[in-house]
Amino acid sequence: KIYPIILSGGAGTRLWPLSRAVLPKQLLPLVTEKTMLQETALRVAGVQDMQAPLIVCGNEHRFLVAEQMREAGIKPLAILLEPVGRNTAPAVAAAANYIKGIDADAMMLVLPADHVINNVAAFHAAVDRAAALAREGALATFGIVPTAPETGYGYIKSGSVVKGVAGDGYEVERFVEKPDRATAETFVKAGTYFWNSGMFLFRAEAYLRELEQYAPEMAKAAAAAVQNDYSDLDFCRLDEAAFTASPSDSIDYAVMEKTRHAVVVPADIGWSDVGSWSALHEVQPKDADNNVTRGDVYLDGVSGTLVRAESRIVAVVGVKDLVVVETADAVLVAHKDQVQRVKQIVDHLKSED
Ligand code: GDD
Ligand code: MG
Repeated sequence: KIYPIILSGGAGTRLWPLSRAVLPKQLLPLVTEKTMLQETALRVAGVQDMQAPLIVCGNEHRFLVAEQMREAGIKPLAILLEPVGRNTAPAVAAAANYIKGIDADAMMLVLPADHVINNVAAFHAAVDRAAALAREGALATFGIVPTAPETGYGYIKSGSVVKGVAGDGYEVERFVEKPDRATAETFVKAGTYFWNSGMFLFRAEAYLRELEQYAPEMAKAAAAAVQNDYSDLDFCRLDEAAFTASPSDSIDYAVMEKTRHAVVVPADIGWSDVGSWSALHEVQPKDADNNVTRGDVYLDGVSGTLVRAESRIVAVVGVKDLVVVETADAVLVAHKDQVQRVKQIVDHLKSED
């Protein structure tokens, strides 16, 4: 059996002013009319062997998450609450301990809650291939063919072929999380590297074994944080003292860079992690002038632009390649090439608090 583990913990600061700490990107209807969390849960429903999802989120988002699942008609297996964020390695470890208590042979499909996948059929096929390899004990990653030397991604160098019943994967020769620009450029040029999509498929037991080896304190803290009996509770709270004691690190640094059991399944699935306003422009359908609009928007002589009006009419005239985002209490106007700098706005506003 495969259990989707949906990680819903990020802040999505590069999508300010829409994405906020109280309402981060994954809980917003960014791309479709459904929120990204809802899309993520619905995307895996109905796949063979797939169980109801387990959602891991911060305590402060519990009611929103529960309400969004109800609205989407999904009954989660559990909603696991973190008292504090300790990044993805402990979050996945807590989920692994929880799942193991239900099903000793459980496989986990770890899914970030904030990604777009346009080709769902291809995604399901990739999950089948990864499951066949994970069943044998591998830690499966999903490789995306890189299109630019992005420094915000993990890079996976593929090695020899691993035969699987549902199709093949490759051994991971090297996993490099967030390389510097020059290194990323050599990786893309080499043609033998994939981007890590941030989704993983492995046996709960296989992940915990690797974590115990490479980050034993984290493994210990996560195991201690999962209580024994959660029956009849809407939310499963991790023990505050135990979980807080965990070191903070991502699954990529803590496990994937180090394990010798990783495999990569190439995944041509129309993937985007929608990390910025320009990425959001890219993944959405555009009008004849290459614009993406949402809400009450008036355009005249505008091209290559994303305009989003949340609470008022927004009129844009005679410009190109901009991002214009209006919300009730903040407005962003930026050149589409400069949207990475939005993160600094949030840092600045925080420093003023
Ligand atoms: N529950 C929970 N708790 N979720 C978390 C936490 C946490 O403490 N921290 C992050 N998440 C969630 C985020 O919301 C996101 O959905 C996912 O876990 C990944 O975290 P990011 O912080 O977005 O990671 P990243 O983008 O820097 O890097 C990862 O994703 C890239 C692809 O988008 C890595 O896996 C890279 O290797 C990968 O290329
Ligand atoms: Mg991310």
